[in-house]
Amino acid sequence: MGRIIAVVNQKGGVGKTTTAVNVAAALAIAEKSTLLVDFDPQANSTRALGFEKDPERETVYDALCGDATYQGIVKTVEELPHLKVLPADNDLIGAEVEMVDMESREYRLKAMLDPVREQFDHVFIDCPPSLGLLTVNALASADAILIPVQCEYLALEGITQLMETVRQVREALNPELEIAGILLTMYDDRTSLARQVVAEVREVFGEQVYETVIPRNVRLGEAPSHGKAIFLYDIRSKGAEAYLKLAKEILDHEEESFGQRAS
Ligand SMILES: Nc1ncnc2c1ncn2[C@@H]1O[C@H](COP(=O)(O)OP(=O)(O)O)[C@@H](O)[C@H]1O
Ligand SMILES: [Mg+2]
Repeated sequence: MGRIIAVVNQKGGVGKTTTAVNVAAALAIAEKSTLLVDFDPQANSTRALGFEKDPERETVYDALCGDATYQGIVKTVEELPHLKVLPADNDLIGAEVEMVDMESREYRLKAMLDPVREQFDHVFIDCPPSLGLLTVNALASADAILIPVQCEYLALEGITQLMETVRQVREALNPELEIAGILLTMYDDRTSLARQVVAEVREVFGEQVYETVIPRNVRLGEAPSHGKAIFLYDIRSKGAEAYLKLAKEILDHEEESFGQRAS
């Protein structure tokens, strides 16, 4: 049954969207059936996969707050037949407010995903840069979270704060929520600060930190404006290499924990 991984960090610009899009694409290229849920009103992952703004298109907002269904909004990514997307649009910002008065407001996304998750190997949720009701919905529906952390000053503080939120979500909404891993992003090996941050985060969070580190790579920054995952934009880039490696690491971890559960 599809494992649901929320890509979360309350800070913007840390590499959530880049990670969600490119890990989902890497798994789709490996012929794993993958769903990416764009859960950020900025709709960056929708655009990054080539879906231009279209007022006629029904999006995740219409399914959360309106009459649209999963089937009515899901799209397949051209060039990546194993990757499907639930697109977002700016109107998703309204859901934060509209859901407040709804029944089971924390579980609206879960209700949408539970009936379809078995069609997928993985479902990724690209979260907005806040800890509001949208992110709470993502955390309530996820099996695990992937936390991208930019290799910069105060990285540890951000993770510590997020871990506290995870603790609260476990207590109140989703006791099974796991940490899939902490991902160090935008690493520049020319700066001693970046090296220091990597060392510190590894020291504090140990095995919870992915071995793969995502380098700062211009091609990763360019690919979204062409509406393409990095593998379709520049497969030979350092960024493509790093996200392929991360996808493999994610699969390896899952096999390990599956093996442990089975034995
Ligand atoms: N490893 C990287 N190297 C270079 N640019 C990156 C990298 N990761 C992300 N970016 C760029 O940095 C900006 C923020 O990344 P993004 O993934 O959108 O972060 P978030 O979703 O957390 O706000 C975007 O313009 C993105 O293209
Ligand atoms: Mg984003």
